[in-house]
Amino acid sequence: MTQTKLEKARTYEKEQGAQIPPEERPLFHVTPAVGWANDPNGFSVYKGTYHLFHQYYPYDIHWGPMHWGHLTSTDLIRWEYLPAALAPDAEYDKQGVFSGSAVELPDGRQLLMYTGVYGREDVAECFQAQCIAVGNGRDYKKYEKNPVITADRIPEDCSPKDFRDPKIWRDEEEGCYYAVMGMRTADKSGAVVLFSSQDGFSWDYVTVLDRCRKEYGSMWECPDFFELGEDGMAVLIVSPQEMQAKGMEFHNGNDVVGFLGHYDRKHHRFTREHAFAVDYGLDFYAPQTLKTPDGRRVLIGWMQAWENSHLCRKGARWQGMFTLPRELTAKDGRLIQQPVQELLNYRQNPVLHKDIPLQPQTRLPGISGRILDMTVDLWPEEGGSSDSFTVRFAENDTYCTDIVYHPQENTVCFDRTYSGFPHNIITCRKAPVRDQGGRLRLRILLDRFSAEIFVNDGEQVLSACIYTPQEAAGISFLASGAGRFDVEKYELVF
Ligand code: FRU
Repeated sequence: MTQTKLEKARTYEKEQGAQIPPEERPLFHVTPAVGWANDPNGFSVYKGTYHLFHQYYPYDIHWGPMHWGHLTSTDLIRWEYLPAALAPDAEYDKQGVFSGSAVELPDGRQLLMYTGVYGREDVAECFQAQCIAVGNGRDYKKYEKNPVITADRIPEDCSPKDFRDPKIWRDEEEGCYYAVMGMRTADKSGAVVLFSSQDGFSWDYVTVLDRCRKEYGSMWECPDFFELGEDGMAVLIVSPQEMQAKGMEFHNGNDVVGFLGHYDRKHHRFTREHAFAVDYGLDFYAPQTLKTPDGRRVLIGWMQAWENSHLCRKGARWQGMFTLPRELTAKDGRLIQQPVQELLNYRQNPVLHKDIPLQPQTRLPGISGRILDMTVDLWPEEGGSSDSFTVRFAENDTYCTDIVYHPQENTVCFDRTYSGFPHNIITCRKAPVRDQGGRLRLRILLDRFSAEIFVNDGEQVLSACIYTPQEAAGISFLASGAGRFDVEKYELVF
């Protein structure tokens, strides 16, 4: 009997995924069962369990006809693989099941909303429209009336070739559904459109929620929109293509921009008040959020830059991973991001060093490793200050990665120049940090192939992949100037 595309993917990932030894993966970051992953999709709660889907091509470590991979978790930290959820097997998605989202229906089914790509072989020339599949948390059936939203439903000019990535949510107050989609307008700039639905299947155009008039890129991918905190504060997050760099805030190419503002629910009007980088690291794109049952807004991103996503580790059988889920709050016109509190349950073997005077280079007993959660607190000595302070990790005689703080500049730089990349890729990126008179707190999460740096309790985050051999596990502190620091380090253990 011939297998369907989905059955073929499920058989393949089961056989091949089992052959990847656990030490070839990160411990607490999600990777595809086998092959390629990009964007998180369908990050949601269904029947009390967290679901994470993702863009997926199991047969290669490079992007190909998109499927949806699938995992579940009870605590956002430990994830279990489920069989692939969707394959490009219908007329309206035969060139790819692109990004989308998920929601639980009142009748107990799970609804997936995604972009179907169809038409010519050349994906850039294909049409994009929004589609639906419904299932039980494991197996899904595509809706017979797909596609449910096409670009001609938007009164203003929207390219039918760039209309994608629906993010759906249920509005409990109004008892209906909304979804935002990314699009490219006639002036070749990014915009987000809002649709509404009573049942999740039949959709009405509401408005263009925001557009950038060429200020923030040429196409807005993977939008997410949610209220945060009190007083109608709302956040719009988009992943623009072809951004132009702007100081330390934005870099060229595919970037992720957060807009914080106010949402007038009645008139569906979003007024932007602040624009900022969501992550200042070298590898971060297409984040998506969910609301936990206890009311926290949690974000997960693809920890990869498109521009060098084709440069894989030698011998790798997977490519693409996701950040640790992060809790979001808003403060002073910015997003604050903290690792989800559930991570604390996996901390073991604490090592504490207090009041260490700054020296040119310091090594501390018990401070090393490549899977850990470490917090470093720095402060200046009375009347003095540090000129620079570096946390160096994944270090041996050949390799190292540095987080460098310059108090005079109020910057933190992620520098992976010596982390072992065999390619000519970007290796440094700086984030502006708040002036606290030379005080700084860094929380550093390492997990074999990546580092996520949370600065000053999550005011800035820098995420990046490092492909450094695992035996480079040293950590040291480099400094000039007068100051002291504390270190608190935990292993992360499952
Ligand atoms: C963003 C993106 C989405 C699209 C998907 C295709 O990374 O380009 O816009 O749906 O990836 O894999």
